Amino acid sequence: MLDDVIQSLQAARSLVVVTGAGVSAESGIPTFRDALTGLWARYNPEDLATPQAFARNPELVTRWYDERRMRCAACAPNRGHYAVAELERRFVEAERAFVLLTQNVDRLHQRAGSKRVVELHGTLWVWRCIACGAEREEPPAAFTSYPPSCECGGLRRPGVVWFGEMLAADALARAHSALEACDVFLSLGTSAVVEPAASFVHLAKRVGTRTLEINLDSTPISDIVDCSLRGRTGEILPQVVERLGLLVES
Ligand code: OAD
Repeated sequence: MLDDVIQSLQAARSLVVVTGAGVSAESGIPTFRDALTGLWARYNPEDLATPQAFARNPELVTRWYDERRMRCAACAPNRGHYAVAELERRFVEAERAFVLLTQNVDRLHQRAGSKRVVELHGTLWVWRCIACGAEREEPPAAFTSYPPSCECGGLRRPGVVWFGEMLAADALARAHSALEACDVFLSLGTSAVVEPAASFVHLAKRVGTRTLEINLDSTPISDIVDCSLRGRTGEILPQVVERLGLLVES
């Protein structure tokens, strides 16, 4: 199975990697749905991750997101993040196409060196004014008051996609064009239940793409992909990259 993954990547001319919270778990950032440690295990998402929750209690929601942001600032990328960044480097060096579609909002991929990143669900690091729309990337320091306010006097919200909200049109467009052009699709550390990422594997299969998954638990796509590996991305991905031969120019 590991050999299958390595051989598929070796032959790939255009790779799309989709990641979820499982890739950041080994950095100490809670996932969403893991029963014991999952973020939602302690909170009800509807009370925190929706526009209605923000309208109802902007202080609670912004305080909770800023605490998550500070927690991410205190965490470091793990070996799985660095392996994904190395995979991108190898593909770019061999002039092969590579796109990372992440559902994660922690920016650990970028801190590990990933550059070709589409943040499907936005990021904790950019906050937006709900009145004038001004967006600003925040330094690694907590806000001093909640909800934070904009120079225009409006309230500022985290630049993440909330339940019930659409993804940014440009992010979705970049994802679809990458999926239509790829010949290998690799899903890492995601439960594959939240749309639209949950349907990406079907888009990939429709264009004859070889589909792979590395995840700690089985997911709804485990029986759909060509090859599904159980395990931790922080352990498996470094082995994959280490054993991946030289990618000759396509
Ligand atoms: P989930 O918490 O739903 O799924 C995390 C997956 O990672 C699970 O299937 C775990 O088995 C797996 N996992 C945990 N640790 C792992 C490890 N070390 N190595 C490999 N796999 C591991 O998180 P997501 O799939 O990212 O969206 O959730 C998708 C979206 O749901 C999130 O982006 C968020 C949430 O609602 C929004 O907030 C809009």
